[in-house]
Amino acid sequence: MTARPLPGAPVADALLARVAGRVSALPQAPRLALVRVGEDPASVSYVRSKDKKAHQVGLQSEVFALPESTSQTELLALLDRLNADVAVSGILVQLPLPPHISEEAVLLAVDPAKDVDGFHPYNVAQMWAGRAALNPCTPAGILELLDFYAVPVAGQRAVVVGRSEIVGRPMAAMLLARDATVTIAHSRTADLAAVTREADLVVVAVGRPHFLTPDMVKPGATVIDVGINRIEVEGKGKIVGDVHPDVAQVAGGLTPVPGGVGLLTVAQLMANTVTAAELVQD
Ligand code: GUN
Repeated sequence: MTARPLPGAPVADALLARVAGRVSALPQAPRLALVRVGEDPASVSYVRSKDKKAHQVGLQSEVFALPESTSQTELLALLDRLNADVAVSGILVQLPLPPHISEEAVLLAVDPAKDVDGFHPYNVAQMWAGRAALNPCTPAGILELLDFYAVPVAGQRAVVVGRSEIVGRPMAAMLLARDATVTIAHSRTADLAAVTREADLVVVAVGRPHFLTPDMVKPGATVIDVGINRIEVEGKGKIVGDVHPDVAQVAGGLTPVPGGVGLLTVAQLMANTVTAAELVQD
């Protein structure tokens, strides 16, 4: 068997076209505030691509690039100002933050109604209760992809490998809200292969190159690869996922890396920004 490829680009295009339509139905373009602290190269690049995409779909966006030396008090003061600004619909603080700033304090300080990452404890609780308005972007984008390719979720056995707060945990909560039977597996799971082989749907977000091997997959299962790992092959840098390429011989559907889930995170952020603006309208 060769797995059906499940590329992210057509899904992102369809999602962004819907976003652009919703933007034009609003009295004014929603504004997204993108906050980063320090010069972590990955964060600089992610924030730049979020800002660019926002402008492409007709949103207003502004980057607040603060120096590494910014104090927690200064960052919280900026968030207070953005929370109070009625022209700002969405606020995103790029993670990770420098070690002298408490991530918990910062995530708590973002108005939950503007929390387009879905990381505020109020939104996390709403998500586990199955009624969140603003869901974390990567897992929400994965659900868009599953719907786009008509992959069934309700009643299916889903295994999420990885328990991060940004992907694994919210993915499990959102699959549960969509009536999947969900298992969260992780680095301490005993006989992981036996667990993942039970799944109709496997989502892998462990950050380890080629971690999921063909023996861990039930024939015909759908496999979603969230990994973005930089490795060296013959002296050259290459981006690979958490899924071994030979999984394509066993799986029924497989997302590519690059060109899979990565494209959806940014698209979903745009959708969340419009959702936040619509919630204020209603
Ligand atoms: N760092 C890595 N992923 C994310 C994300 O989805 N949101 C934010 N704010 N920071 C991140």
